[in-house]
Amino acid sequence: MVISAAPERVRSRDTLHPYRQDSDFYYLTGFLEPESVLALVPGRKHGEAILFCRDRDPAREGWDGPRLGPERAGEALGVDDAYPISDIDDILPGLLEGRARVYYQLGLDAGFDLKLIGWVNRLRGRSSGSAPQEFLQLGHLLDEQRLFKSEAEIRLLQHAVDITVAAHRAAMAAVRPGQHEYTLQAEIEREFRRSGAQPAYASIVGTGANGCVLHYGANVSRIHAGDLVLIDAGAEYRGYAADVSRTFPANGRFSKEQRALHDLVCKAQAAALAQARPGKPFAAMHEAAVVTLCDGLLSLGLLQGRLEAVVSSEAYTRFYPHKTGHWLGLDVHDVGEYRIDGASRLLEPGMVFTVEPGLYIPVDATDVPAKWRGIGIRIEDDVLVTRSGHRVLSAALERSADEVEACMASARATA
Ligand code: GLY
Ligand code: MN
Ligand code: MN
Repeated sequence: MVISAAPERVRSRDTLHPYRQDSDFYYLTGFLEPESVLALVPGRKHGEAILFCRDRDPAREGWDGPRLGPERAGEALGVDDAYPISDIDDILPGLLEGRARVYYQLGLDAGFDLKLIGWVNRLRGRSSGSAPQEFLQLGHLLDEQRLFKSEAEIRLLQHAVDITVAAHRAAMAAVRPGQHEYTLQAEIEREFRRSGAQPAYASIVGTGANGCVLHYGANVSRIHAGDLVLIDAGAEYRGYAADVSRTFPANGRFSKEQRALHDLVCKAQAAALAQARPGKPFAAMHEAAVVTLCDGLLSLGLLQGRLEAVVSSEAYTRFYPHKTGHWLGLDVHDVGEYRIDGASRLLEPGMVFTVEPGLYIPVDATDVPAKWRGIGIRIEDDVLVTRSGHRVLSAALERSADEVEACMASARATA
C-alpha cells in the first residue's frame, strides 16, 4: 500500500491555504506534515511500515516551523523505518519490486499518480518480471475501517462535539437583533479556537429566509427581531469533526408558526433516533423522519392529500430536500458505504452519524400562506451506535423550543 500526504495548495500568488492533512494518511500515520509518503510492505524483514518525510532543515524551519525528520519518525509515529522524501525515487521502486499488487488511491494527486506509475513502469522495463501487475483502489478497504470508530476516536469525536455544544450556546447567548450573522459566526469560532479547534466546514449562520439556503455561507445579513437564526457549525478537533445545527429566535421567543415547525422538526428527529440501534437499516431513520414531517405538514395545511401519497410522490421535497444524516468522523461527510448489494446498510456498534431533519419554506412559495414563508429550521445532532442502542454525543445542547427559550432567557438574565 502506498499513500501520499495531501499536497499544499496555493490560495493566491505565494499564499497557501492553511494545510489540512489527507484524512486517510492522517488515519494511518497521525502525521501532519506535507511532502510525506507512507508505504506498507507486508512481510518485509527490515520493517513493514515505511515513512518518507522531509529532512530537518534549520533554515526552512526558521520560516515554516519544526519538521519531524526521518530520524525521529520511528519514535514519534511508530513506523518501522523512515527515509528522506528526497530519496523516494531511489527507494520506493525497490519496495514495489516483486509485489503482485499495489493498493493506492488513484486520482487524488495527479502529480503523485504519475510518479507511482513511472516507478512501476521502470520495473516493468526490466526483464525480471518483478513489476506489480495490479493497482487496487485503496478507498473501499480503508473506508470500511474508518467507518467503525475505536474508543480513542470516539473520545476525540466527543471532545469535538463538546466544544461545539459550548459554541452553539455562546451564539444563543450573544444573539441580539441588529447584529450581523458574522457576529454570531465570530462567537462560534471564538469558542472553537479557544479550545484548540477550528471549523470542520464553513460555518453556516442564516437569519430569516437565509436559513432556507442549505449551504448558505456568506453570513453577512443583518439579524432582525422576529427572525429565526439557523446555525450549522461544528468544530474539528485533532482531525475529528462535529456537525451540529440549532435554530433559535433572534429575540428569544419563537412565534406561533416558528414554534409549530420547530416542534415538528424535533418530532421528526425523535422518530429518526428511535430507529438508531444495531440491526436497523441506515435508511430507516430517514424514512421515519419523512413520515413524521409529512404527517405534520398535512396537519398544518402545508401539504395536501393522503400521507402515503405525499410520501411516495416525494411532494415533501420542496420543504425537505435533503437526507436525514450521514457518517461522521475525520471528514464531516465521512467515508463508508450506505448501501450494500443494493440494500440499506444495517447499523452496527461504533458507527457515528448525524441525524438532521429540517424544514425550509421558501420565501417565494406563493401558494403557501404568507405566515409560513421564509422559515428555515434544521436540528442536527451527532450519534454513536452502541451495543444496546445509541448515544447522542450532542445530547447536552438544548434542543426543544422550550429548552432553547430557557437557555436564551437565562443567558440574558446574567448578561
Ligand atoms: N454541515 C453540513 C451538513 O450538515 O451536512
Ligand atoms: Mn450534517
Ligand atoms: Mn451540519
